[in-house]
Amino acid sequence: MANYSGKKYYIKTFGCQMNVYDSGRMASLLEAMGLAKASEPAAADVIIFNTCHIREKAAEKVFSDLGRAYLIKQERAEKGKDTIIGVTGCVVQAEDEEILKRAPYVDFALGPLRYFRLREVVQEIFDKREAKLLDTDFSAESKFDRLPENKAEGGCSYLAIQEGCNNFCTYCVVPYTRGIEMSRPVEDVLKEARRLAETGSVELNLLGQNVNSYHGEDASGRERNLAYLLNKVAEIDGIKRIRYTTSYPADVDDELIRCHKELDKLMPYLHLPIQSGSDAVLKKMNRRHTRDDYLRIVEKLKEANPDIGMSSDFIVGFPGETDDDFQQTIDVVNRVKYIQAFSFKYSRRPGTPAAVMDGQIEEKVKKERLQVLQDLLFSYQTQFNKNSIGKTMQVLFEGRGRHRGQLAGRTPYMQNLHAKADISLLNKIVDVRITDASTNSLSGEVV
Ligand code: 5AD
Ligand code: SF4
Repeated sequence: MANYSGKKYYIKTFGCQMNVYDSGRMASLLEAMGLAKASEPAAADVIIFNTCHIREKAAEKVFSDLGRAYLIKQERAEKGKDTIIGVTGCVVQAEDEEILKRAPYVDFALGPLRYFRLREVVQEIFDKREAKLLDTDFSAESKFDRLPENKAEGGCSYLAIQEGCNNFCTYCVVPYTRGIEMSRPVEDVLKEARRLAETGSVELNLLGQNVNSYHGEDASGRERNLAYLLNKVAEIDGIKRIRYTTSYPADVDDELIRCHKELDKLMPYLHLPIQSGSDAVLKKMNRRHTRDDYLRIVEKLKEANPDIGMSSDFIVGFPGETDDDFQQTIDVVNRVKYIQAFSFKYSRRPGTPAAVMDGQIEEKVKKERLQVLQDLLFSYQTQFNKNSIGKTMQVLFEGRGRHRGQLAGRTPYMQNLHAKADISLLNKIVDVRITDASTNSLSGEVV
């Protein structure tokens, strides 16, 4: 295979952790061809946007970024340099041919299940054998089987164990962009986990759109669940901390809850989206759980591990949401006292059932509700962070901090933390005493 050393790539990632994982895998595909990472798009021979379609804003942002990349391509062309512009991810799957119509200067577009072709595609375009390429194939073959081995980039790594979703929440594009659920076989996951540990990861975050519906086959062909997999990953010596995200409430079973009691390596933090606290809204969302189901699960999790901190996603202004429905959401927040959360105004997504439901909510009302909800969520988050002051926590340092001589990391509860620390502590788990806290981060001293 031709070597492209001297050439550079730049990948910009939008959206969820799965996209972050996919971008990492794309980077290693390009590096295997000899390309190096560019510090900015203007220095890159290959510019890739790995896109997200979950809300309108995220999807539209891609097109303004693409416009800027086109300017770069033109400027570079004047200097005699070729630039390949690629788009990957969920916008490609959703827009399909439209993407090449809206941005005709795009050289290739690969759906989220097709980026294993990146090498071949980039090579063909570099060598001018192929002018333009669009691939949004949705077939069942697993992209993971076609990717070279993954290796750690730092102390904390994502590991995709499941992809796609069969839940069809009525607001959500995921089943249409990532396809139906598939789970990677147990042995493939464990092999990747061991390899990540060998190359320096001490923390693994097992990823899936609906991670706790994991049902991968073991070596004997038997289907295994997430609880089984967590136990197996916990047996890997080098792995000290384990997380998994994102879970669907109706698929949290007692075995999984037991893991939070029995597995010391499983971090005391769980992202478990409820979306709304109103049963009427949950029903219209086609969620397979009620608010009480959800609260019962949280109660059981807290019984299993009283230290567990909860996180969630919320959507306000779903079609038909009344003030009373919204108050039910507020009530759930007051009961669960989330330590972190993500909240969004409902965004109409073409092709999803909710986009054409009656009772669409005015922007003004959505905005007001989001403000009220976020103020409350932030107050609990700030309170939790302030309560951390004086405690000593195990922090995994993941990168450089805001100031010279500082490192940034995360506590077991996913809080961001900055502390004065020697660079030798990077990618290590270190005891840190918390000295100060705000809504979004903590400061501390290495002990
Ligand atoms: N509008 C607003 N938020 C959405 N999400 C998913 N689809 C939409 C939509 N159409 C949110 C959900 C989900 C998170 C990843 O994004 O809260 O859990
Ligand atoms: Fe979307 Fe629902 Fe699947 Fe989550 S579980 S990705 S919200 S369809």
